[in-house]
Amino acid sequence: MYSQGLRDSKAGDDSPELLEAFQKRIDNEEKIEPRDWMPQAYRQTLIRQISQHAHSEIVGQLPEANWVSRAPTLKRKLILLAKIQDEAGHGLYLYSAAETLGESRHKMFEDLLSGKAKYSSIFNYPTLNWADVGAVGWLVDGAAIMNQVALCRTSYGPYSRSMVKICKEESFHQRQGYDIMIKMAQGTAQQKAMAQDAINRLWWPALMMFGPSDKDSKHSGQSMKWKIKRFSNDDLRDKFINATVPQAEYLGLTIPDKDLKYNEKSKTYEHGEIDWNEFVNVIKGNGECNQQRMDARNRAYDDGKWVRATAAAYAKKQQKNEKVA
Ligand code: 3HC
Repeated sequence: MYSQGLRDSKAGDDSPELLEAFQKRIDNEEKIEPRDWMPQAYRQTLIRQISQHAHSEIVGQLPEANWVSRAPTLKRKLILLAKIQDEAGHGLYLYSAAETLGESRHKMFEDLLSGKAKYSSIFNYPTLNWADVGAVGWLVDGAAIMNQVALCRTSYGPYSRSMVKICKEESFHQRQGYDIMIKMAQGTAQQKAMAQDAINRLWWPALMMFGPSDKDSKHSGQSMKWKIKRFSNDDLRDKFINATVPQAEYLGLTIPDKDLKYNEKSKTYEHGEIDWNEFVNVIKGNGECNQQRMDARNRAYDDGKWVRATAAAYAKKQQKNEKVA
């Protein structure tokens, strides 16, 4: 019943019996695999989320790449280069996972380059000083892991398996970011001020990575029912805040939220109001670096044209040779 293949799940095919049986599999924690029957909306939700996630990994290389040529030591430069390469790899695993749902990589690229597809809002903020590289690793990769550890249990097999490998690397990224923050926070007064400046600018955008509040999240309800998402946006954001505030305290840095307070009863932190207008503005394309990021991706795509053409010509020649042999 389930191995009906990709082409059988088209809009309008979703009979109540199939939907019910599908939900039962989800409720039983079975993984859904590429050739299994799935509702069209489940497929589309996954393509949307996985491709946005892949784009985030790829665009996310840019703010850090800004510091490769100015890393303070050779060792820091090597670590940063390795991290940026990891992010490219994450993008590739995720594009591959989305391809198993029938979406072509070319179409996903086109959607990113035309500005149609979204990528994480966080990457539209600039990295202004070296401490930002630390804060990106600590806060941005830290927020990403909080979400991605949960995604290792997402219901779609290829997505879940790719997340397992990605999380291992993200956890190294978070640690190297925190290591930079420790060095800066324990350094000169000027270095500590740079670290504080980085957290002042990146704290709120990092909280926005988890998406709109639960009452405004349009996809969460269905995505959680299908176990594509395992936690709501607000739950993950709260988990991140609870894990990160003590880390900031250890660094001797201040979280830029005057309303942040510890609730003794619930043993959790309560945070101030997020500026949702800023969030909406950034995802609409009006953030400080949206244009710069899109220009960089389009330039890279154009510059790589000859590589794609050469690879395609080589593959064609190989095919021809195989036919002759
Ligand atoms: N930036 C940009 N767009 C965002 C966003 C953000 N921080 N948060 C939400 N959105 C968009 C959604 O994509 C959706 O847009 P769409 O309907 O046009 O597709 C809209 O806002 C409404 O949000 P919802 O809460 O209804 O959307 P989701 O249920 O998809 O939840 C999400 C949003 C929590 C980001 C979810 O998609 C998710 O968990 N995605 C996988 C993780 C991911 O993409 N992480 C990217 C982080 S960066 C990264 O991983 C790189 C690493 O190297 C640091």
